[in-house]
Amino acid sequence: AKTVTRNDDGVVSVGGIEVPRLAEEFGTPAYFLDEADFRARCRAWADAFGKDADVFYAGKAFLSRAVVKWLYEEGLNLDVCSGGELTTALDAGMPAERIAFHGNNKSTEEIERAVDAGVGRIVLDSFQEIVRVAHIAQSRGKRQRVQIRVTVGVEAHTHEFIATAHEDQKFGIPLAGGQAAEAVRRALKLDGLELIGIHSHIGSQIFDTSGFEVAAHRVVRLLADIRDEHGIELPEIDLGGGLGIAYTSDDDPREPHDIAKALNEIVTRECDASRLRTPRISVEPGRAIVGPTAFTLYEVGTVKPLEGLRTYVSVDGGMSDNIRTALYDAEYSVALVSRRSDAQPMLARVVGKHCESGDIVVKDAFLPADLAPGDLIAVPATGAYCRSMASNYNHALRPPVVAVKGGEARVIVRRETEEDLLRLDVG
Ligand code: LLP
Repeated sequence: AKTVTRNDDGVVSVGGIEVPRLAEEFGTPAYFLDEADFRARCRAWADAFGKDADVFYAGKAFLSRAVVKWLYEEGLNLDVCSGGELTTALDAGMPAERIAFHGNNKSTEEIERAVDAGVGRIVLDSFQEIVRVAHIAQSRGKRQRVQIRVTVGVEAHTHEFIATAHEDQKFGIPLAGGQAAEAVRRALKLDGLELIGIHSHIGSQIFDTSGFEVAAHRVVRLLADIRDEHGIELPEIDLGGGLGIAYTSDDDPREPHDIAKALNEIVTRECDASRLRTPRISVEPGRAIVGPTAFTLYEVGTVKPLEGLRTYVSVDGGMSDNIRTALYDAEYSVALVSRRSDAQPMLARVVGKHCESGDIVVKDAFLPADLAPGDLIAVPATGAYCRSMASNYNHALRPPVVAVKGGEARVIVRRETEEDLLRLDVG
């Protein structure tokens, strides 16, 4: 579905617009998002899971009002995990019943807002929160639909900081030691709660479906235990997000269809074995929808060859628009996109302009040896967790997000200005 092409002069276009023109109009650094690709990916997920399942886009990956409208139009639901994300979702017109509210430390005020708005589900993350949400709902004469997030105890094969199913971490309630069963017992007793299901998110940037299968297996076993103990069959399970994408050509991502098939099969099989009605499945992909749809465009500044080592290529952004390399040792690729070069490839490292030696965007890359100030280079697959994790370090101005489609480009998140920065300064 991608609309990225390169002409004979080496000039890359997206959505029918040449990159130098985009740079001229919107400046650099900037994220350019292929709207048709985004929408196609939403549809691929919705189609793969079908009408008996729900797809919740994980807003943490990247959220703006325009994105919320696309999700709404494509029939997706939305997972939010803060008051800010909730506000954006509601403000852009996402119906509250299509919103799931997450978080390991939701404030009372956030819970009140979510309950008052009438969100479709709140995902409970601790024993204290079970009581807190019940209390808030009851004080308003409501029954809030909730799921309980459990940790199933699988080790997802991904970076430690983004793995979430092992027990020694802050999210969820462990299945181990009967803790999740106890959480269910308590939730079922509280009038303010309607327990609709169990939630599991095993981690992020995962390629292997086996972790999801183990999680599904364990969640269904809990449903069977609940049926045996309480005589009720919870109608839903949510298996979280986490499907990996290709950052470089070494990555080999699964398609939504593969993951849907694997999950449906295992859930159906396990439910049949336990003689349970198959619950409605939901999933929460963030990265797999938005990640591949955008690239960051940078202008090359200083080019510094270090004899016998590599060439440091400095760009006009850096860790403030992509913290992932510094934080997770993430791998990215990069390409010259404003012209053709027949020069030899040189070993390069693309670095930013921040006052940190760890300010690296692309650790190892080959770029043409004639790379020069003013060239435009693009880092693909920056749609997820780049703008959403961007910072103002060194008073950098966070870059805009420009949606490109059918020969038209429009800003969906504008570039920050120095006035924006100064506006927060008091005194
Ligand atoms: N659902 C829950 C409950 C989550 O915590 C997350 C991600 C998702 C869904 C979406 O996961 P995805 O499909 O996007 O992998 N900043 C990190 C990723 C952190 C993900 C946190 N939770 C990164 O840049 O790799």
